[in-house]
Amino acid sequence: MFNTNNLMKFGASAIAALLILLFANWAASSMYKVADDAGHGEHGDEEHETPRGYVIAAMDAEDHGDEPEDVVEVSFEEVYAAADAAAGEKEFKACKACHKLEDGANSTGPYLWGLVDRPMAAVADFGYSDALTALQGGSWTPDEIQKYIENPKDYAPGNKMTYKGMKDIEDRANLIAYLATIGG
Ligand code: HEC
Repeated sequence: MFNTNNLMKFGASAIAALLILLFANWAASSMYKVADDAGHGEHGDEEHETPRGYVIAAMDAEDHGDEPEDVVEVSFEEVYAAADAAAGEKEFKACKACHKLEDGANSTGPYLWGLVDRPMAAVADFGYSDALTALQGGSWTPDEIQKYIENPKDYAPGNKMTYKGMKDIEDRANLIAYLATIGG
């Protein structure tokens, strides 16, 4: 038996299914685009705020992928909680030219023995810049250290640590986990 009504219903649901597929496909590809853009920031001269964490696209069912605000950042605390001190030992290469790890051994920079949670600018016989002396009263919590070494110039304008900065959040977390094992 052939019934026009049934045929119509079948046609309508086939079209609906096709539309859902097309929509899902579009939503997925625009989501990946959001994640990509945020991750690489390859936009020529445009000034981009450096993302301070991992960028993860929120993939919930409600997300239609057209709102960049849906990007979720993982905090330094979370990365630090999973940090690997052994891997961090290698990152210390970036500091070694100017810092020693032995207690009291100043070099171009102050010794870093017991750095984690040490008061800022507190090595008595090191001649700190005014920029660093101005930080006295604070302490080098893991979070403060990671902000300083990510971009020393921005953290304390005018300070004399001429280090360009460690951009990778995991590298910073691993390095600080390693420093936390040295003295203190
Ligand atoms: C080119 C030399 C140089 C390099 C490389 C360098 N630092 Fe420094 N660092 C300094 C100097 C100089 C100071 C003192 C800055 C001032 O007084 O303005 C300093 C200060 C510091 C302080 C403040 C210590 C305190 O007693 O308050 C910390 C923390 C620090 N450096 C960590 C690091 C880490 C971690 C690295 C590696 C990722 C690093 N530095 C790489 C030269 C360097």
